[in-house]
Amino acid sequence: MADSRKIIVLDTTLRDGEQVPGAKLNVHQKLEVAQQLKRLNVDIIEAGFSASSAGDFQAVRQIARTVGDSVTITALARAVKSDIEAVYESIKDAQDPLIHIVLGTSNIHVEKKFSRSKEAVLQMGVDAVRYAKTLLPNVQYSTEDASRSDFEYLWQTVEAVVKAGATMINIPDTVGFAVPEEFGELIRRINDRLKNLNDQVVLSVHCHNDLGLATANTLAAVRNGADKVECTINGLGERAGNASLEEVVMALKVREAHFGCHTGINTKELHKTSRLVSLLTGLDVQVNKAITGENAFAHSSGIHQDGLLKDKQVYEIMSPEDVGAESMELILTARSGRHAFKNAVEKMGFEAGDAEDFERLFQKFLALADAKKEVYDHDVFYLATSHRTNE
Ligand code: KIV
Ligand code: ZN
Repeated sequence: MADSRKIIVLDTTLRDGEQVPGAKLNVHQKLEVAQQLKRLNVDIIEAGFSASSAGDFQAVRQIARTVGDSVTITALARAVKSDIEAVYESIKDAQDPLIHIVLGTSNIHVEKKFSRSKEAVLQMGVDAVRYAKTLLPNVQYSTEDASRSDFEYLWQTVEAVVKAGATMINIPDTVGFAVPEEFGELIRRINDRLKNLNDQVVLSVHCHNDLGLATANTLAAVRNGADKVECTINGLGERAGNASLEEVVMALKVREAHFGCHTGINTKELHKTSRLVSLLTGLDVQVNKAITGENAFAHSSGIHQDGLLKDKQVYEIMSPEDVGAESMELILTARSGRHAFKNAVEKMGFEAGDAEDFERLFQKFLALADAKKEVYDHDVFYLATSHRTNE
């Protein structure tokens, strides 16, 4: 599409996603995920939280050395020198390393977490960015809990850290409190001021899913000027998770005309990536999850199956092949109609027979479907064979 804006995609499955209880991955598994994220063509991989443990540091360093030749690599630091140094040491071998600093801006973070004045917290952020800039040119600053922050203090912080050299500003909805209209408006206000201050600075968002709105909030931010989205595979992440990469990317692709934006993601790798992350973390993908759930392209009602067999577009807004999933699946149940059943019989190489004969076979199918709920290929095979033999 002409004039479509490219949105930068940062994947934080290996940092925010790995914070999920039970999702701990070893170095080899993290490398495997990073290699798959490279195939998926994400722009930035957040590989971990380098200062948190020796294991995390090693994993970030290995990822930077292995896949950092073509993907930007970042890792998280609190606004303290030792964290920033750990990040620098772990990512410096990548071709395009990025230091990511996080510090809260909401009253509750400033008062309860830091017990300091707002001015002192802001100064900590500025000092952290200045220090990071002595190590690397690219620094992202995250204003933690931005969506619950006083707007003028949030802006004061953004302005100060940009003047100190931050090249990316990330606005997190840390506790998933925002709603789309409000979050979109917040991003629009920041974007207006930021573009006046320095139009080279990238504006990013990072949304959590506590109210099930992470994808909607991320998309509202894109509509209002965000240049970059932070997501995870399968929506993994702290508590209810982060914005799901597959949902955000496919919404931008399927509705490109609406958003006027696109990503560089190789969507045919989405399904494989989702399965790999699920397998390695041991965390199942819910069956009805958009894009990558087992039922995302399965159709079971007779009315839908009939429509799909006439033209896939009747009930499909994207094809399973677009996301690397198996082709459309028609699940036969008692609600499947004659059209879908006939299609299944013929796909197995049987003749459907004349109308009367087919009707007798269809009634046997209905009886079986009532008893079994779901009828699989081997059941259809059995029905068709025994029908022929008993004729
Ligand atoms: O949720 C959050 O605020 C974060 C930051 C580190 C970006 O994960
Ligand atoms: Zn987060």
